[in-house]
Amino acid sequence: MKFEFQNPTRLVFAAGALSRLGEVASAHGKRALLVTGGGSVKRSGVFDRAVSSLKLAGVSVVECSGIEPNPRISSVIRGAGIARSEKCDVVIALGGGSTMDASKVIAAAVLYEGDPWDMFLHGQENVHVPASALPVITVPTLAATGSEMNCGAVISNEDSKVKSFIKADCLYPRVALVDPELTLTVPADHTAYGVCDIITHVTEGYFNGVEGTPLQDRFAEGVILTAMEWGKKAVADGSDIEARAQVQWASVVALNGWVQIGTDAAYPVHMIEHTLSALHDIAHGAGLAVVNPAWMRFAAKARPARFAQFAQRIFGVPARPGDELGCAIEGIERFEAFLASIGCPLRLSQLGIDAALLQQYAEDTLHIVHDDQGRLPGCPPMGESDIV
Ligand code: NZQ
Ligand code: ZN
Repeated sequence: MKFEFQNPTRLVFAAGALSRLGEVASAHGKRALLVTGGGSVKRSGVFDRAVSSLKLAGVSVVECSGIEPNPRISSVIRGAGIARSEKCDVVIALGGGSTMDASKVIAAAVLYEGDPWDMFLHGQENVHVPASALPVITVPTLAATGSEMNCGAVISNEDSKVKSFIKADCLYPRVALVDPELTLTVPADHTAYGVCDIITHVTEGYFNGVEGTPLQDRFAEGVILTAMEWGKKAVADGSDIEARAQVQWASVVALNGWVQIGTDAAYPVHMIEHTLSALHDIAHGAGLAVVNPAWMRFAAKARPARFAQFAQRIFGVPARPGDELGCAIEGIERFEAFLASIGCPLRLSQLGIDAALLQQYAEDTLHIVHDDQGRLPGCPPMGESDIV
């Protein structure tokens, strides 16, 4: 193994931590662009509490609401325009992954004269990786993406129908203020999609990474087992703050880089899902619930020992000497059964997506990954029967 690791985001994690937003933000700016989604934080009263805390600490607030799920580049451009004209010096994201991702790109776009879409890695040659951005503070209201403590963001271009990502050191939030109480109002379906997203963030590295990462394997297994145990409880009873807290902590750890260190892994399942959510505007975690088990069935043929390890360690499937693939498939079936048990879809038809365009989805995905980044070497192509 060989790696360097740094994650500069300060993490403040506690039920009730929202009341500290003003104190935390005032160390980074005096005029905040407060970015929110489609209204959930207003309905829950979280928005008013955030504004009060900021004002008490002497931080003035400029509002940028209406960031949509699968956020659009046009919303980023709108947000950057507001931040520029209002002379904001800090960006605060109050919402789910979509709001956090848009906030990060707004923070970089404010300081960039060109087209913000230049900053995205969708197979283009001359990517402008931003070197500077306004300070960002993330306050997640949904446990899923891990965007609160990483330097990535995913944005859709509504004209080209491409969903692409950006990664830059300057996008690490200065502070992630993580208050599990804010997730109590997330409905059961989005709670389940979040659990699926958390698990998929670590299965990507687990199944695609290099060999010889036993500690990382155990980290990933810990995240999966925790997300499954507490995720089921959070879906069954949304008011269970203990379950909400455990799921939220799992979401932070799953994609703040820690689990992936040294695995050198690709994200094929994410790349395929991004193609689907770009075209069909589905919830990211719901798309992953369809794609991940289907992908696993095919990838297991290329790397049965690793999938058998997953089956044994996560689901207690007995080892089958001479039939690793059989053991692997049983683990995948149990994983699929878990996803169904929390209410995730398992087939494209459940998402209203027609199978007729599968070939086009595959080509679109290869276009965005533009090298072998999205594929497991030796893995057979995705077939139709398991996914439709
Ligand atoms: O928009 P509002 O009104 O806030 O409602 C949202 C939205 O409808 C709602 N919601 C959020 N918090 C809530 C709540 N409803 C009630 N109570 C609350 N406390 O949930 C819906 C979904 O929100 P969204 O932010 O879209 O979900 P999520 O957090 O799953 O984010 C998904 C986006 O993140 C990207 C995905 O591609 C997708 O665009 N990802 C970002 C990553 C990253 N930056 O590292 C990695 C991920 O793999 C992912 O690709
Ligand atoms: Zn994800």
